[in-house]
Amino acid sequence: MNWRKVRTIVLTVLVLCLIPATRYYQIDEPLLRLLRGSRHVDPLSLHLSGEFVENNLGTELDPDGSVTVRMIAQQYLFIPHCILVPAGVPVHLRITSADAVHTLFFNGTNYLVEVLPGTISEAQVQFANAGEYKTICREFCGAGHYAMRSQVKVVPREQFPALHSDERGNCAQ
Ligand code: CUA
Repeated sequence: MNWRKVRTIVLTVLVLCLIPATRYYQIDEPLLRLLRGSRHVDPLSLHLSGEFVENNLGTELDPDGSVTVRMIAQQYLFIPHCILVPAGVPVHLRITSADAVHTLFFNGTNYLVEVLPGTISEAQVQFANAGEYKTICREFCGAGHYAMRSQVKVVPREQFPALHSDERGNCAQ
């Protein structure tokens, strides 16, 4: 075996690997889109169309009595700024990011959800008792990261269906 030949082959392979590596952001999107499938969303048009338009955000009562919460994380806030959920029922959380990577953390619980632009993160959470929880960003996402806070208000289960849909979506009075 000619070692010079081996060295040339190894170097050639390395260089060929470097080309797609430097073009990571170009090849990344279609590949991720394929892997994400239906969970793909366009972070630049969240407010224009689809699941995360403004009037679709907040808490929605599902036919089985559970609720679905839709939120957007963006520098440097969570939208809606305050959400209302009933105690003791499963909360299906659907959240995406409009810009950077954020991590949503419900203070006082173990719930931690990583939020990425371009994809929908899903999580199931449940709050046993009525009360208020701070929602905190746990991923450094820029200059305003430490101020990226919002709130979840947990109301008694029987009180929730009586609330008007506007109140469920935004409870920041
Ligand atoms: Cu968002 Cu830190």
